[in-house]
Amino acid sequence: MSQVLVASNRGPVSFSLSDDGTLTMRRGGGGLVSGLASVAARPGAEVLWVCAALGEADRAAARQAPEGRLDRDGHDTGGAAVRMLDIPAATFHRAYNAVANSTLWFVHHLLYDTPRVPHFDARARRDWQSYEAYNAAFADALARDAAPGSKAAIQDYHLSLAPAMLRERRPDLKIAHFSHTPWAPPEYYRLLPDDIGAAVLTGILGADHAGFLTERWASAFLDCCEEILGAKVDRHARTVTLAGHVTRVGVHALGVDGPELRRRAAQPDVAARAQALREQVGDRQLIVRIDRTELSKNIVRGLAAYREMLTNHPEWRGRVVHLAFAYPSRHDLPEYREYTAAVQRMARQITDEFGTASWDPLILQVNDDYPRSLAAYGLADVLLVNPIRDGMNLVAKEGPVLAGRGCSLVLSREAGAAAELAEDAIMVNPYDVSQTAEALHQALLTPHEQRAERCARLTVAATALPPQRWFADQLAALD
Ligand code: G6P
Repeated sequence: MSQVLVASNRGPVSFSLSDDGTLTMRRGGGGLVSGLASVAARPGAEVLWVCAALGEADRAAARQAPEGRLDRDGHDTGGAAVRMLDIPAATFHRAYNAVANSTLWFVHHLLYDTPRVPHFDARARRDWQSYEAYNAAFADALARDAAPGSKAAIQDYHLSLAPAMLRERRPDLKIAHFSHTPWAPPEYYRLLPDDIGAAVLTGILGADHAGFLTERWASAFLDCCEEILGAKVDRHARTVTLAGHVTRVGVHALGVDGPELRRRAAQPDVAARAQALREQVGDRQLIVRIDRTELSKNIVRGLAAYREMLTNHPEWRGRVVHLAFAYPSRHDLPEYREYTAAVQRMARQITDEFGTASWDPLILQVNDDYPRSLAAYGLADVLLVNPIRDGMNLVAKEGPVLAGRGCSLVLSREAGAAAELAEDAIMVNPYDVSQTAEALHQALLTPHEQRAERCARLTVAATALPPQRWFADQLAALD
């Protein structure tokens, strides 16, 4: 029996509490869940997934679970054993919101602007201690549950200290860390206090294998290890040596599971949404975008580009509709609440300026509806993906797979996905609104045949490395 442990902030399941006090479990989606399900399905493999309880309902479920294991409580967790950590709410809030999402996420996505330059004061120190405690809780749980010699795959910026903490507790384990975000170049990374910046790097270097989505992010990580820690970096072998321990740095692009995505999109709930959308927009061309309402996704500039296109090319008025799905995200943070308001303001301006009695130029939807997103992919003529920086961006990969008639992809050169998709996309600098406006115009003008050809090639690239492969490669890299 070989054991694989996974650790991530958001787990494969979550709970909600109904009025009568019953807990209902929901299974999550995403690459990690499907990658792992394939490992759990292998004979002789045992998967244990350690995650954080994200709210009161999760906490209640974690407390009720026998020995803290949700799979032992009659829940169908898709073949994986799940341990949800009941971390004290205040500690969780500081680790997740203040450190992971407001600090590390902002650094890696180059999101600070001058008035918002972070200042690391006494309060930030306390937040950092909570981040340490949160990481230690994961390391403790993994150390306690791991069989001798097991592999542990630790995910993302929430858990950058856990690899070194786990190595200290269990030197017999094989440890991997994977960053789903970009990595900041040293000159930007240096805005972190010196000890915190060093601790994050040293934490990840506790792993035997540190994975990134693209060469670009892996290389920035190597630069930081060399310049900030003074670690020995071998760029050819892609290894970092610190205090005698060697960490291999690997690049594992993440793609989509084409057959599974098509299977899901063929369900009746998607067909019903597609019909409703079609009735709403008629036979007009459709520009689609789908994002979490996330500062790095650059939604406001994307809308500004659409506005500029309608201004400069009035022939499109009445003939095109922009469907913008912007799902709520991280609303505990004021930056995200302000950003959501800015997106809505910009959308209103566009509707006020161009809308007529018979034409809605823009449909902005802010409620999360997965089948509706799949339906929109199916109908898209143009898919707009313009993040200012993104680890990978799976929308750019899912869209072409499902686009019924073939769509044109307008893609930011700062998305990790650009490394694989640039050849068949119309590439833009995400800060250049005029260039993006022109790209949308060109995308709409592209003849259908050419769109379909490009879309077919995009689909091949997007599905080349499905989550199953992505995860199996990381585990193999530990051998
Ligand atoms: C990014 C991160 C993930 C995170 C997701 C959603 O993709 O890399 O770790 O789970 O965003 O963000 P949330 O804060 O809602 O978990």
